[in-house]
Amino acid sequence: MKQKLTLIGFGTVGKGLCEILKDKSQRLNNSYDFDYEVVAVADFAYGNVYNPNGLDIDLMLEQANAKQKFTKDLSELDTVSLIKECNADIVCELTYTDLQTGGPAIDHCKAALSTGKHIVTSNKGPAALFYPEMKKLADENNVKFMIEGTVVAGTPIINLTDGPLGGCEISRIRGILNGTTNYMLSEMEKGMAYDDVLKVAQDLGYAEADPTGDVEGFDARGKVTILANIVMNAGIKIADVSCEGITKITLEDIQKAKEQNARWKLIGSVEKKDGKVIGSVAPEMVDLSHPLAGVMGATNALTFTTDLLGDITIVGPGAGKIETGFSILTDILSIHRSQ
Ligand SMILES: NC(=O)c1ccc[n+]([C@@H]2O[C@H](COP(=O)([O-])OP(=O)(O)OC[C@H]3O[C@@H](n4cnc5c(N)ncnc54)[C@H](OP(=O)(O)O)[C@@H]3O)[C@@H](O)[C@H]2O)c1
Repeated sequence: MKQKLTLIGFGTVGKGLCEILKDKSQRLNNSYDFDYEVVAVADFAYGNVYNPNGLDIDLMLEQANAKQKFTKDLSELDTVSLIKECNADIVCELTYTDLQTGGPAIDHCKAALSTGKHIVTSNKGPAALFYPEMKKLADENNVKFMIEGTVVAGTPIINLTDGPLGGCEISRIRGILNGTTNYMLSEMEKGMAYDDVLKVAQDLGYAEADPTGDVEGFDARGKVTILANIVMNAGIKIADVSCEGITKITLEDIQKAKEQNARWKLIGSVEKKDGKVIGSVAPEMVDLSHPLAGVMGATNALTFTTDLLGDITIVGPGAGKIETGFSILTDILSIHRSQ
């Protein structure tokens, strides 16, 4: 069966998804009877293109990698009109994250869901700010709002709690949800001061020129909100999650933790307490015997506390072109296999 895809945003994740689809097409076809066609792409940098019979993805990857605008199948439609009018089954929303307003992604999601197209996204904005509204709109239109890539990229988190862990009661989730800050804390253990480590993280492309979203914990807070609302049905807002970043951690703090057989981690946490769901982000000294303490560098990890299995910890990449492109493939396949 063929899935027709529209990609809104053809940056790192959009290109990563296309590369995976090309590389794995035979395997996906053999294993799942999965076939695909990318029918529309909208991107600020490269332009809007549409061909109901399928675009020339090789050419588009070549042009985007060379930072050239698309030249074939150009469309006059603006992005929202393109989403509404294209013949896609699934729209992949892969534009930038805005955790204040959710825009412009929220308009893209509404346009797709209201015209009966599934949404698959790695964009935290709509998921952290408007999950209940998006889920309701999806349900009303008999389609899905899928967000595996919003938390720890392609490492299975949302689908793990919904699938294999579905029969367990999850009372607590805590973990390392931001690779940049985990990298910085790991490097500080080698004796480098906060400001120097931040500069290295920026040079390596882990931290952005304005690192606020990572180092103040805002990125992790968005993910905590998503987990609280999806896994624990909490109905909370981003502002309900207390948030402290790593900017106050000094080399003395790092040394103190070492002396106590512990290690600083920026921990995002969601916990059911007295009938309420509490979300928080804060640096914590984690005992070296805990699995989260051994997670170093830009890697992410989450420990789920369950009634039937005790603690389950999953460790994996939280970012990257292929890693996040894979999260989009996972959700596309999940939609495909449910049909
Ligand atoms: N990269 C990762 O490892 C990763 C991991 C987890 C989640 N995510 C999330 O996944 C999403 C995509 O990330 P990315 O790394 O692929 O970002 P990216 O490389 O910056 O690509 C986004 C692309 O979307 C375009 N765009 C922005 N606004 C648009 C609009 N309104 N209409 C059409 N195109 C628009 C951008 O064009 P301009 O550059 O001209 O603005 C850019 O080409 C983000 O929300 C990000 O937070 C990424």
